[in-house]
Amino acid sequence: MTAKRLLIVAHAPSPNTQRLVDAVLKGARSPEISGVEAVHKPPLEAGPDDVLAANAVILGTTENLGYMSGALKDFFDRSYYPILEKTQGMPYCLYIRAGHDGTGTRRGVETIVTGLRWRAVQEPLILRGDWQEDFIAPCEELGMAMAAGLEAGVF
Ligand SMILES: Cc1cc2nc3c(=O)[nH]c(=O)nc-3n(C[C@H](O)[C@H](O)[C@H](O)COP(=O)(O)O)c2cc1C
Repeated sequence: MTAKRLLIVAHAPSPNTQRLVDAVLKGARSPEISGVEAVHKPPLEAGPDDVLAANAVILGTTENLGYMSGALKDFFDRSYYPILEKTQGMPYCLYIRAGHDGTGTRRGVETIVTGLRWRAVQEPLILRGDWQEDFIAPCEELGMAMAAGLEAGVF
């Protein structure tokens, strides 16, 4: 059976945000889950072909100046029209690392994915405020939940 592909398009401009990506990947690659290949691409390296090859997507970004990172926006700018007619119903989830808010980023991403007709499979995870070690576990759970859902075919 061909492995299902979980694409993680996540911006990680700092050591802390890299730890979030690592946690998502660790969860998605849990030994008890088989048949799912989890791949992380930084948004500036990801494009429409990556999305077209994926069965589900995890989006991750910092909040910068009240909006998603320029890197994630650039990914959408380059990918939106090439994938528009081809990825309707794509299961996705979103995590945001925000120094103090996250609202504008959530709104911005949700506006775009609503246009794409992607389907949120869980509430966005917003990691707000000063860094906490407690941010790691929910990221790992998010990766695991997405991979487990793909494995089980529930999306
Ligand atoms: C230029 C810049 C703009 C930022 N703007 C916002 C913002 O509008 N809202 C917010 O919640 N955090 C903002 N932040 C904070 C970042 O979200 C935070 O630094 C990033 O998530 C990295 O977190 P870390 O310190 O845990 O590595 C901004 C950071 C930078 C560098």
